[in-house]
Amino acid sequence: MAINSLSDLLAEGVEGRGVLVRSDLNVPLDDNGNITDPGRIIASVPTLKALAEAGAKVVVTAHLGRPKGEPDPKFSLAPVAAALSEQLGRHVQLAGDVVGTDALARAEGLTDGDVLLLENIRFDARETSKDDAERLALAKALAGLVEGADGTPGAFVSDGFGVVHRKQASVYDVATLLPHYAGTLVATEVKVLEQLTSAGERPYAVVLGGSKVSDKLAVIENLATKADSIVIGGGMCFTFLAAQGVSVGSSLLQEEMLDTCRHLLEKYGDVIHLPVDIVAADRFAADANTETVAADQIPDGKMGLDIGPESVKRFAALLSNAKTVFWNGPMGVFEFEAFAAGTKGVAEAIIGATGKGAFSVVGGGDSAAAVRLLGLPEDGFSHISTGGGASLEYLEGKTLPGIDVLES
Ligand code: 3PG
Repeated sequence: MAINSLSDLLAEGVEGRGVLVRSDLNVPLDDNGNITDPGRIIASVPTLKALAEAGAKVVVTAHLGRPKGEPDPKFSLAPVAAALSEQLGRHVQLAGDVVGTDALARAEGLTDGDVLLLENIRFDARETSKDDAERLALAKALAGLVEGADGTPGAFVSDGFGVVHRKQASVYDVATLLPHYAGTLVATEVKVLEQLTSAGERPYAVVLGGSKVSDKLAVIENLATKADSIVIGGGMCFTFLAAQGVSVGSSLLQEEMLDTCRHLLEKYGDVIHLPVDIVAADRFAADANTETVAADQIPDGKMGLDIGPESVKRFAALLSNAKTVFWNGPMGVFEFEAFAAGTKGVAEAIIGATGKGAFSVVGGGDSAAAVRLLGLPEDGFSHISTGGGASLEYLEGKTLPGIDVLES
């Protein structure tokens, strides 16, 4: 069954109607509570703007971090409400609770075009409960906030793409209670990911980095038969190198994944490409002493913190011919300048390919943050996903509960 879209809802007319929107406003904060990357807030604006401009009474629910099912000021959405107001160009009020007396009073007081953000949905333990009845009870309370004074039901717009892989009350259960629609962000993300799993143009190159092989295992297995090359860097490359019998010094190593990596290399050795040189450091620090060594010559006591220049050259050569590219995970510790060249070099190669007509997707999380931190042009890529875990699970071929429920 087709998923109803935001345009379908707008065509029905939303003036004066309560609309609950699940957004993903889970942005990184520094130690002082300042937002360091507003990407997800900016990506949430089009849906909220369209609804507010059409006169809906908009109630937004979202999470921030992983509080333990009770209010915790450290995870308050207050900084997000301020940033969202700025991006939206209209005041966003923040409720002092999730579905309590303050949220209820504010929801009742909304006039057409108003936007109310509920406090962090994960302050309520029922949001992430494994008990269906508990989640449903919270979903009913959320639905109650957008019910008309005469008892007419509100509508639910699912727009938090980054969280659609979670079977949670505000993502999944609420859609079983209300007429539901995909917001523009969710619709765009799904369309892009469909393109990466179906008939994309070849050659198709996948670039994977980040620290853990275990996080990327399923995606490697699923894409190894679809992609022409899978380029591996970041902390996870050392487990692959070690699986080839090479000593990796004190680099990051997932010992329990060695056998798995060995099997992957045996099965997909012609598709998987590993670095040939490494920037090794004497400690994990921005000002560590560094040397570039062959990937099979990492000295004892030294740790690899970036891929080396020859690897960048080889990876860039592969990427420059690609017509479809998916990138998830940095090639090194890009937050430290001394170890940023690998990520930057690979990103520039993808930008180059995009300039020549390739369809390129950056898969959320750290790689999206790297693009912004390294000052790379965001429009150099065809799409920067807001969903790290969600886009990976989609590419693993898993069913995403938050998308699945919109189809029913
Ligand atoms: C994310 O940051 O990937 C999403 O907001 C989901 O957050 P979670 O992993 O805490 O569920």
